[in-house]
Formats: sequence, C-alpha cells, structure tokens
Amino acid sequence: MGSRRTLIAGNWKMNGSRHSLSVLAEIARPTNDLPPHIEVVLFPPATLLAQTATLAKKTASKLGGQDCSSNSAGAFTGELSAAMLNDFRATYGLLGHSEGRTRHGESDDLVRQKSIQALDAGMIAVICIGETRDEKEAGRTFDVLADQLAHSVPKFSSADRIVIAYEPMWAIGTGTTPSVEEIEGAHAHLRDCLTFEWGANAGLISILYGGSVSPHNAMEILGLPSVDGLLIGGASLNPAKSAAICSNAAALHMGAGA
Ligand code: PGA
Repeated sequence: MGSRRTLIAGNWKMNGSRHSLSVLAEIARPTNDLPPHIEVVLFPPATLLAQTATLAKKTASKLGGQDCSSNSAGAFTGELSAAMLNDFRATYGLLGHSEGRTRHGESDDLVRQKSIQALDAGMIAVICIGETRDEKEAGRTFDVLADQLAHSVPKFSSADRIVIAYEPMWAIGTGTTPSVEEIEGAHAHLRDCLTFEWGANAGLISILYGGSVSPHNAMEILGLPSVDGLLIGGASLNPAKSAAICSNAAALHMGAGA
C-alpha cells in the first residue's frame, strides 16, 4: 500500500483578522513536534494568506487556499486563481466545500474544473463531498458519494496530489456526527470507488473525515482503519483544541511513517 498522507486540516472559513495572527502562530508552533508523516494544513481566509505563509515557513505546517477559480486568469472579479494562491506558497487547495456547493450552487463539474486548476498550479487538491440529511434519510448516501466522486475528481491526475474530504453536510457545524460505523462504512465505500477508478494508485489518495470534529471525538474517528485524517472547522480556530486533536493523531499514528 502506498504511503498516504495523514492530514489534519484546519479550515478557518470567514473568520479571523490581523489580530488573529498570534492565534495562528499558537496553532502552527506545535506542528514542529509532530512525526513527519502527519501534515497539518492551515486554510486561513485570503486576507491572512501572506502572514500565514510566513508562519508556515517557520513551522512544519502547510498553507492552503480555501477555494480557487475555475479559470487561470482574466476578468473574474473577486476570484483568486490557483496560481495566485501558489504565489503565496499555498501548497493545498480546498475545493467543493459544502458551503460553496449550497450557497453558490457549485456543481460537481465546476468543482472538477477548480481542482484541475489547483493541480495545474502544482498544488494538492482537497476535494470535498458529502450527502445532505434528506439523502441520508432516503438511504442514498453511497450513491450520492459515488456520483460526486466520479464527477468532482479529475481523472488522469497524479493520485498522490488528490485528497478526498468526506463531509456529511448535516454534520458540518451542527455538533452532530455520524456513528463510527457510518463513517467507516462511507470511507470504505469511497476507497472501493477510488480503487475501481484508479487501480493500485488509489492507495495514494487520502480520505479525510470532516463535520463537527472536536477533541472529544477525534481519537475515535482517527482510529478508524479507513480514515486518513480530519478536516476541522470550528475547533481549528482554538489553539488548545487544535493541539489536542494533533496530539491524538500523533499518538495513534506514532511510528506509522517510520
Ligand atoms: P466543523 O466544519 O468542524 O465546524 O463542523 C467542518 C468543515 O466545514 O470543514
């Protein structure tokens, strides 16, 4: 099995100001003590990209952009291209987050175009998928995930630069998570779909869980065999919670990359 990344990704969403830099520094500093196979990625708002890039350079954390345009340059007011993010030394792009899909009607096709831009700029694309509560209650979770995966993820790219984040929409910011059996089932299903499409290279694609991750549930979720890391929203704003989640990952995966 290839060497997949263990990722702990913090998505700050539309939070933070210049005054949050000390908080970001507090979050980034402990990453120096993590085993090298665990990567911590900070996704700050665009206004803090430059300062977070400086922090990331001084620590073992990596920088990511929360979104990118599906175009490479030109008359696209308000958008940031993947190359612009990469110019700030962002090595990760977060694409297809459910907030973009629901608030701005982003389709799988658009998410795929954005992912292609991120990959073309040399970044790692973290592509989010997840079912709604209605889809879950109708027993359609697996079908929805397979469909989103098939249409959002660019084919013919390097598998080691693709990361999938499974984020059930109903779990984001609600304090409610699926059961560990449901998470394991969804991740195993995604792994099967990836293997069908990518063959042995699927082993290089990490699958993260996201949605109401906290220091209370991180250990249990990270301990599941098919979970390769976490995408964290609310808890990533808090240095103590962030550090607790990272040390859970270090405890569980200690020696895994040695
Ligand atoms: P949450 O957000 O951890 O606050 O639920 C997760 C996400 O939106 O990525």
